[in-house]
Amino acid sequence: MEKTSIHGMWSSRTAFILAATGSAVGLGNIWRFPYLASDNGGGAFVLVYLMCIAFVGLPILIAEIMIGRHGRRSPITTLVALTRETGAAKGWISIGWIGIVAGILILSFYSVVGGWTLHYSWLYLAQLFGGARITDPGATFDALLANPWELAGWHAVFMGVTVGVVGLGVEKGLERAVRFLMPVLFLTLVALVGYGATTGHLGKAAAFLFQPDFSKINAGVMMAAMGQAFFSLSLGMCTMMTYGAYLPKDISIPKTAGIVAVADTGIALLAGLAIFPIVIGFGINPNGGGPGLIFTSLPLAFDVMSGGVIYGLLFFGLLFVAAWTSSISLLEPATAFLVERVGIARKNGSLLVAGLCWLVGLVTVFSFNIWSHIRLLDRDLMGVIELVANDTMLPLGGLLIALFAGWALKETILREQLAGMPAGLFTAWRWMVRILAPLLVLMVLLNVVL
Ligand code: PHE
Repeated sequence: MEKTSIHGMWSSRTAFILAATGSAVGLGNIWRFPYLASDNGGGAFVLVYLMCIAFVGLPILIAEIMIGRHGRRSPITTLVALTRETGAAKGWISIGWIGIVAGILILSFYSVVGGWTLHYSWLYLAQLFGGARITDPGATFDALLANPWELAGWHAVFMGVTVGVVGLGVEKGLERAVRFLMPVLFLTLVALVGYGATTGHLGKAAAFLFQPDFSKINAGVMMAAMGQAFFSLSLGMCTMMTYGAYLPKDISIPKTAGIVAVADTGIALLAGLAIFPIVIGFGINPNGGGPGLIFTSLPLAFDVMSGGVIYGLLFFGLLFVAAWTSSISLLEPATAFLVERVGIARKNGSLLVAGLCWLVGLVTVFSFNIWSHIRLLDRDLMGVIELVANDTMLPLGGLLIALFAGWALKETILREQLAGMPAGLFTAWRWMVRILAPLLVLMVLLNVVL
């Protein structure tokens, strides 16, 4: 009989693809990708990013889902069982712990930015009913950041809706909502790219994104691109491993992983093509936009285009939904772990983890106002959390996952999980997780340290 997970199972291949794409597509694609491209030299960053997705991200995505499906439990318990089964060293279990700590750190700031999307949705909703226009987006954004209470409040609302879903277990309502809302988000982005084309700056935007200036590639750019590849594909912190644990046996892992990676990358590029024509069109310097980029540039366009208020509401409202389907996947591994290990009810477990993340998130909240003077490694405190969690812990977790799948797992397990994968692709994949991906991750991590 097929082993199943005590936490529930995805009802179909589509359900898994939706959930995994829902996890992957989020703030990472629409908020973070454009601003990192802006801060790291445009095309140079995008090129390194795409290479990281193809040669590091995709193979590790397959490895993560596979390990999860073989273990069928929360990451730490799965790794304990797998090290026992294969006689591998206990040290591999640290992958699960890195994942839990990285997840808590990432959700802490993710929820703060998720709160921004709620605040902006609210502003456009109010505008629809006669509220004030956003005529100076820079000032609007600065005012939000300057107010710790407002930030902490939206952060709490965002965390609250995340717990709401995770507490309820594998989510019927959300699955249905996402099936409808994700395509609408996609169409809104396409419409914005269309608007960008009418401004006459789509070509310049494409050149900025796709013509790499090789002299701009340095250790920092590579680190940012690698960290973003892991972040955007939800890799390196056992999220995909957890989702893999709920994946029925007969579904092809390489195919579904391929679909998720293509959808995730496509949405990020589309977001870039939607945003940069507007940035350039309004005379903003596309370089160095920082985390506020979409919040300070897009409202300029929404203020002048016809139906702009509706577009603003749609854009930020849907961005919130995309962030929501990612944040539930950030909360799930630690929650499933508590349910298994401590025997705590799912609702209480998710509330506990979310409460902790909310508290840690206050560091990000204060990094914009009362603690804005604190700088470490030339970054504010939110930047430090991103450096530690996204750019260091995720690649490190991913490196260990690749090595574990490549060297520690028996070939019979790999063949069983990847049944149906053409022989040549299987060999290529194995070579990538054994050697290429670990080497590339190490190079990037060491290059930065040395
Ligand atoms: N991939 C998500 C995004 O792009 C963020 C995320 C990271 C989710 C890690 C889960 C795990 O927004």
